[in-house]
Amino acid sequence: MSDPQLDIIILISGRGSNMAAIHAACQDGRLPARITAVIADRPEAAGLELARSLAIPAFLVNFRDYARRADFDAALARRIDACTADPARSPIVLAGFMRILEPEFVGRYQGRMLNIHPSLLPAYRGLHTHRRALADGVAWHGASVHFVSVELDGGPVIAQVRVPVLPGDTESSLSARVQQGEHRLYWRVIAWMAQNRLTLTPAGVQLDGAPLRRPILWQLPAQDADGDLIDVAN
Ligand code: GRF
Repeated sequence: MSDPQLDIIILISGRGSNMAAIHAACQDGRLPARITAVIADRPEAAGLELARSLAIPAFLVNFRDYARRADFDAALARRIDACTADPARSPIVLAGFMRILEPEFVGRYQGRMLNIHPSLLPAYRGLHTHRRALADGVAWHGASVHFVSVELDGGPVIAQVRVPVLPGDTESSLSARVQQGEHRLYWRVIAWMAQNRLTLTPAGVQLDGAPLRRPILWQLPAQDADGDLIDVAN
């Protein structure tokens, strides 16, 4: 059953373009949920202003105000739980959130905390993914949505979008193409969660009651930049 009142909390550190794409999906009904808070860990996150311009409640929990990581995590958890009517169930969506979270925090939101990472995991965990993909000369690059676990960029992958690496690509052209994919990918996975179709069990990810043996894979259409994602049979 879908629940149109499901509250989503989004955590950001940067521009917030994924946040805006998720917001658009909530607005037009593709995603049966509402963003009740956007929380940034740093004041310079441009996404804070963007959230306010979209009339989404925006908050700052500044990591520089906390000497210990655990204290920052505790303040963040307090803010999150105050921003939802259902603190035990709301998805926590990391969208360009650049802090490493302690195991206690990860455990608290286990199974409903998602992250998007700009690579086809398990390839290129960590930073500078586009640069590393270009240096390796790979044919395909992309983005992955995964459950957050204590291992950085290491949680179970749910779905991915792949994009071709084109001749003459630079870090910025490739990153822009990956982001086009990200904006079409993230809301779909959150919608599965909102519709109670997606769960994390001790045995792994389950989608529609069946174990997900490998991530769902989509592809950005080559010609039609505004087009929908294409299913890649896998
Ligand atoms: C995205 O590329 C995401 O994969 C990575 O950080 C970037 C955030 O971009 N984790 P934005 O702030 O959503 O524009």
